[in-house]
Amino acid sequence: MILLITGGAGYIGSICVEELLRQGHEVIVVDNLQEGHREAVPPESAFYEGNFGDRDLLETIFQKHSIDGVIHFAADTRVESSMIDPGQFFNNNVVNGIALLDVMRKFGCNRMIFSSTAAIYGEPQYNPVDENHSKLPVNPYGESKLMFEKILDWYHRAYGLKFNALRYFNAAGASRTSAMDRGFLIWKWSKPWKLSQGKQSLSNLHPEDSVIPRHWWHPRNWPTGNLAGIRNSQNWKKSSPQPGNGTESILMDTLQP
Ligand SMILES: NC(=O)c1ccc[n+]([C@@H]2O[C@H](COP(=O)([O-])OP(=O)(O)OC[C@H]3O[C@@H](n4cnc5c(N)ncnc54)[C@H](O)[C@@H]3O)[C@@H](O)[C@H]2O)c1
Repeated sequence: MILLITGGAGYIGSICVEELLRQGHEVIVVDNLQEGHREAVPPESAFYEGNFGDRDLLETIFQKHSIDGVIHFAADTRVESSMIDPGQFFNNNVVNGIALLDVMRKFGCNRMIFSSTAAIYGEPQYNPVDENHSKLPVNPYGESKLMFEKILDWYHRAYGLKFNALRYFNAAGASRTSAMDRGFLIWKWSKPWKLSQGKQSLSNLHPEDSVIPRHWWHPRNWPTGNLAGIRNSQNWKKSSPQPGNGTESILMDTLQP
């Protein structure tokens, strides 16, 4: 398949790109590098530096490549920042997303896998949290993701968009070629590596990381859809509002022409 990956220079996106290429897919990445790293994008993929909400850029990309489906990772993701500047989050995570959907529609591309978040649930009323749990986000980040899920649903009803929204919880783990080897370092990538090398003690982590039991998943498992936990926990459950639980066949079916 020919897949457009938004945010493919970011943490989860770049590891996903690596895996999709390994599986033989053709990959096109769009990322404005506000958080991502150009070096993280494997050279076998086409790379466009820019805003995924820029309609002119998107039209250029869709004209040049016969894209079968979009895997949408790009977003503003820092919860604390969303409390300070919600407008930025709604613009990037909602308004830009609508531009992307409209250009997809213009070019007859009607398949998307969306990176949602467990933050749409808000404070857990029970554990493990499942898909029937109330959705009451407690920050603009979670709210923006819930809004986009609802927009996807309306595009499905009105325009026949096929989509799958995955509500990720805690991702951890490096790429096959190792983020460290690529010569750059951000905390999300380096922390699990340092821990595995015994170079950082648990007490140096954010308190939440060490005391709250969590269900972690490795981004390398994304394309296989299994989202296997790398650390045991009962707290979060992987979730998707669509039928199915994110197994490989269901994810790939979403993108299959
Ligand atoms: N990391 C986690 O544990 C986690 C948990 C839940 C949900 N998610 C979701 O998964 C997705 C990926 O998360 P991540 O941890 O890899 O984040 P990340 O910040 O590492 O990656 C996001 C990428 O999107 C790019 N981007 C942002 N806005 C853009 C724009 N307007 N145009 C083009 N590129 C843009 C950034 O430069 C970055 O490369 C996000 O949508 C996030 O909300 C992540």
